[in-house]
Amino acid sequence: MANSDHLMKTYSPLDVTFERGEGAYLWDSNGEKYLDAVSGIAVCNLGHSHPAVASTISEQSTRLLHTSNLYNIANQQKLADRLCELSGMDRVFFSNSGAEANEAAIKIARLYGHKRGIKKPSIIVMDNSFHGRTMATLSATGNRKVQAGFEPLVQGFIRVPYDDIDAVKSIAKNDRSVVAVLVEPVQGEGGVNIPDTGYLKQLRTICDEHDWLLMLDEIQTGMGRTGQWFAFQHSDIMPDVMTLAKALGNGVPIGACLAAGKASDVLQPGNHGSTFGGNPLMCATASTVIETISNEKLVENAQAMGQYMLDGFRNRLAGNTTVRDIRALGLMIGIELNEDCGDLVGKALQNQLLINVTAGKVIRLLPPLIIDEVQADTIIDTVCELIDDRSQKAAA
Ligand SMILES: Cc1ncc(COP(=O)(O)O)c(C=O)c1O
Repeated sequence: MANSDHLMKTYSPLDVTFERGEGAYLWDSNGEKYLDAVSGIAVCNLGHSHPAVASTISEQSTRLLHTSNLYNIANQQKLADRLCELSGMDRVFFSNSGAEANEAAIKIARLYGHKRGIKKPSIIVMDNSFHGRTMATLSATGNRKVQAGFEPLVQGFIRVPYDDIDAVKSIAKNDRSVVAVLVEPVQGEGGVNIPDTGYLKQLRTICDEHDWLLMLDEIQTGMGRTGQWFAFQHSDIMPDVMTLAKALGNGVPIGACLAAGKASDVLQPGNHGSTFGGNPLMCATASTVIETISNEKLVENAQAMGQYMLDGFRNRLAGNTTVRDIRALGLMIGIELNEDCGDLVGKALQNQLLINVTAGKVIRLLPPLIIDEVQADTIIDTVCELIDDRSQKAAA
């Protein structure tokens, strides 16, 4: 079915409508079955229709959906406690989306700066980053396509290349307005870019030396995706601020901005808020998501299956000249080709597989964390066949 004329033309959806999902599979309106290696862009980490999530949503909806942050919300407090226990952070603000979680982080950084007497605080951000579509988060985003036409952009961001410590050091030397660094531990939309081991640690050191906040956007990398609960846990560091969304609710909209130490008391009553943020339904769901990830050992599965898939792709694609690079951290997998390959999304769909292409040339795979070896093999086989087919056509 074509996109309805009554929908704004913000998306160009593929010509398929899904009606039902179970585990790692989706069924379309014609009853065709597909293997999902996208998970709604790193959202449905537990797969589709997980019974534990369904029963929490159903049970909570018969009790209480929404009150307001005018009152205490027990589910919110419980979820905040659990997130802090898992991450080592101190306090949480709940939002409805990733962009809003990052808005909270940006506001914390600015207020932190003002409290230190910096009148025009700025935040260091990265090339090829993605932080959302609100005015502040698109201004922080390192992609001109996301920004073009929406000028004037929000000021107060200083951009440097990703994974370039010297660039950050040089700003530190010359610019007294900086109050924070905002960075993805692995860039998702930017092409599954994994920085050098030690990058986050070096950023942590620079932030400590200058009293800046280290703010990690873990909206795509968080909740077990990379084989740790949070990607920063691959490094021996703690952030001052971390943002989450996507897989936190497994499809129920929820975002979170977590803060530690000096960053955790910056926002005070009246500084920030949200009508829906942290409501009983979203928090009950997210608590169930966390317990299910934990009970089913899905962080460990992400690590094991991520390695399995990385090895599988490296074996199968060795020597293929169309492939420039294969990289993965847990189940965040990128296969970079030498040329634009957006057409592969439609071809994979014809082969009953959902994949994504980002940054033009990077096949991005984000399967649910529940996948097993048989499903992983299907993904590897189908993707490699599509790439082989493309290389053969290019050679012909
Ligand atoms: C790293 C990162 N930050 C922020 C966002 C924005 O999240 P949302 O679409 O929930 O606003 C995304 C979404 O893709 C993301 O990948």
